[in-house]
Amino acid sequence: MTRMNVTMDLSRLSRRSVLKGWLATGSVLLANTILAPKSHADRLDLSITPACGEDTGPTRSATEGPFYSENPPEKRDFRSDVDGPPVTLIGYVLSADCQPVPGAIVDLWHANHKGQYDNQGFKLRGYQKTDAQGRYYFETIRPAEYAGRTPHYHVKITLPAGRTLTTQLYFPDEPRNELDHLYDSALLMNVKTVSDGEIGRFDFVLG
Ligand SMILES: [Fe+2]
Repeated sequence: MTRMNVTMDLSRLSRRSVLKGWLATGSVLLANTILAPKSHADRLDLSITPACGEDTGPTRSATEGPFYSENPPEKRDFRSDVDGPPVTLIGYVLSADCQPVPGAIVDLWHANHKGQYDNQGFKLRGYQKTDAQGRYYFETIRPAEYAGRTPHYHVKITLPAGRTLTTQLYFPDEPRNELDHLYDSALLMNVKTVSDGEIGRFDFVLG
């Protein structure tokens, strides 16, 4: 795949400008580059395209946990649900042979900035379908830790053919990661700070 390796000062960019650039894939603007998936995070190269096939295989599953609510709404803006540190979560859904999967359902739910879930309604709960290039994004917040759990996102990915992967995503800088028995370093997002919050990148590979 075409890959552009660029080192740039993300702290000067906003979440919106990074997202806009990423969604404009196809142009050669610098803003079109974005956080690499985790497999490239240490090298800080910023890649337009996913790095499937260079990682360790399909995305690992993780427990659903006790706080999933059936039939969430279609929603990508979780920011209007609650206060909290803003995070734009982006990535691809890829098949085992590294092809982007359009129309996959990415169902996200997580705790708020106080470590609480909305178990009555659908705050911080919703799904998106990947676009024609297999991309998804959410505008949300950074969740807090709660009862033995380091901060995490819960995600279910459902392919158009029907298969579902249930997993969780983690932040690389959380001191409680190693204390959480469910924590899996293979599920770390690549998280970068920008001028108005953070961008988290994770590409799901369904085997
Ligand atoms: Fe949880």
